Amino acid sequence: MPPVTGRYDFLDYCSAPQRKVEMIPLGNGSMDLTHRPRRLRRNSAIRRLVQEHILSVNDLIYPLFVREGGGEPVPIASMPGCFRYPLDRLLVEVKTIAELGIPGIALFPVIPEHKKDDQGSESFNPDGLVQRTIKAIKSLVPDLLIFTDVALDPFTSHGHDGLVDDQGRILNDETVDVLVKMAVSQAQAGTDFVAPSDMMDGRVGAIRAALDAAGYTEVGILAYSAKYASAYYGPFRDALDSAPKFGDKKTYQMDPANSREALKEVDLDIQQGADIVMVKPALAYMDVIYQVKRHTNLPVAAYNVSGEYAMVKAAAQNGWIDEKKIVLETLTAMKRAGADMILTYHAVDVARWLQDS
Ligand code: PBG
Repeated sequence: MPPVTGRYDFLDYCSAPQRKVEMIPLGNGSMDLTHRPRRLRRNSAIRRLVQEHILSVNDLIYPLFVREGGGEPVPIASMPGCFRYPLDRLLVEVKTIAELGIPGIALFPVIPEHKKDDQGSESFNPDGLVQRTIKAIKSLVPDLLIFTDVALDPFTSHGHDGLVDDQGRILNDETVDVLVKMAVSQAQAGTDFVAPSDMMDGRVGAIRAALDAAGYTEVGILAYSAKYASAYYGPFRDALDSAPKFGDKKTYQMDPANSREALKEVDLDIQQGADIVMVKPALAYMDVIYQVKRHTNLPVAAYNVSGEYAMVKAAAQNGWIDEKKIVLETLTAMKRAGADMILTYHAVDVARWLQDS
């Protein structure tokens, strides 16, 4: 048998000099291999020792939908296992979440049509749904972190994240003025982190300055720094009835084709005072998570969004995949890519699975 050359040559570097890297049978049926990576996979004990990334309950933030009124939680068809909770039922859920050890929740409100307007003015109502919900959660489970969304789309009659002019253009600076009021009203209600998610320019700096001026220096900013114009948000927009009534979000959310632009957005948010930067969606953007992690010393969050969740749930319901294994593998892969924390609708299931294992 001729010596194997070519693609095996690189192994010469790490071979003991007296050993030739050739695939020569030793006669006893064994190959003369210097390196057998499988030695480190032989059993669970060695696999645990060499494991590089570990998913834990400490990595999770659970997004929750709250609606006005009472009654039963309303299931969200495209997100099995997720509901629009009336406040009293949300509080029951929140207690369980805290008991499971999940560090935080992300709150999203379902606003009734009659409270929406073209200015999104319900967003900074001190007695609005989000503000009331923050207060109620904080008096029940003060240590559970609350991340509140700062964007106008749940509140605007047209469904866009920004104010719109008469030609249908999304106005940047005027929108930021409203976001600032919204963030301060959430801080007044007791939120821990505001999470600007709309990709308007300059919002992080404006919000930081306003929070500080109002005395809320301890309220943090989780910036949706690299948020893409993605089809993966479909089920979420069903959940909130917040799909844009005209056009799309491509003049503010990023082009999925770009990654250097993500680093620019991250730099801008850091300069403006972000505490945590986020990449969204997660699954199709692992390379962006990886690059952002190498680019900054800030913690990096990833949002495992509604469409990612819906795909897994649909396949699992058909019996085509093993839901638990797929979810744990996917979220671990997000950590490997560089996420320090993950917003995921799987959080409660994952917390339970990790307790069991
Ligand atoms: C709105 C917002 C969206 C999501 C979080 N905040 C939707 C959008 O930008 O249209 C999506 C979350 C998900 O899909 O799970 N600013």
